[in-house]
Amino acid sequence: MELDITPSGQACGATVRVLDLRSVDTTTVAAIRSAWLEHKVLAFPDQQLDDFDLERFVLAFGPFGSDPYFGSIPGHDHVAAIRRRADETSPLFAENWHTDWSFQEYPPDGTCLMARVVPPTGGDTLFADQQAALAALPDDLRSRIEGRRAIHSARGGYAPDGTYGADDVADRSMDIVPNEDAYATRTHPWIRTHRETGAETLYSTLGYIIGIEGMSDDEARPLLGEMYGHQTSEEFQYRHRWEPDMLVMWDNRCLLHRATGGYDGHDRLLHRATIGYNPDFGSPAGSLGSTGLDRSVT
Ligand code: SIN
Repeated sequence: MELDITPSGQACGATVRVLDLRSVDTTTVAAIRSAWLEHKVLAFPDQQLDDFDLERFVLAFGPFGSDPYFGSIPGHDHVAAIRRRADETSPLFAENWHTDWSFQEYPPDGTCLMARVVPPTGGDTLFADQQAALAALPDDLRSRIEGRRAIHSARGGYAPDGTYGADDVADRSMDIVPNEDAYATRTHPWIRTHRETGAETLYSTLGYIIGIEGMSDDEARPLLGEMYGHQTSEEFQYRHRWEPDMLVMWDNRCLLHRATGGYDGHDRLLHRATIGYNPDFGSPAGSLGSTGLDRSVT
């Protein structure tokens, strides 16, 4: 099955024109998967997926991921609303670079967002290709992270004293559910092998990464900051501009992403579902290890 694919011309990302994602056969799913692995972010314009269709689409690519700190929308346990009202004053959700739920034992392979309400201006989503970022990493920086395990935690965002915790503004329209579990830590190798493509990639960044195993905070913090600057530099980025009725799917295993503002006075609503860790592709390469605080994984 040939897809009509237009690469973004940026570091990653492509637009895919297919007739109707509500009814895709296995050949089309295989073609989309292959395009997804190649371009990392796929945008499908002019799609009419309701929330049942969105769930079915996700299940064509893997199991549902678990979204621990979001409430779901009524009747759809695996769909969350990324919502902001026109008059909302809360700080923007997900404005920091991250990859989804990297603090989990088995983080989601991918994420899908279906546009429901798109502001006329602003609200782009930015992506940063971490395979390209690793390929361009200066040798001296690489030697400082080679073989290292990063310590991941949701505490900065979702713990009771995190960004979305008790002190978050009451005005937020998104259903975010902070809790004590967010203090847990898990480690992952900082350089990982993508389980499907076999490509080496940097995994996650400062934010969900709170430290480096076996390194003091005084040593780790500047290294994390230096890495963050490199990982998110413009040359690795793709800026995604939303259109109404657009579905986007991206690969969390080799990308960072972040939300952007610039649409005050306009509503924005995207429905989100995660493609969970698919055990069919084996474990990511990397040694097991422990932070002493929680289970650790590759
Ligand atoms: C997200 O990180 O899931 C949201 C991205 C966005 O709102 O653009």
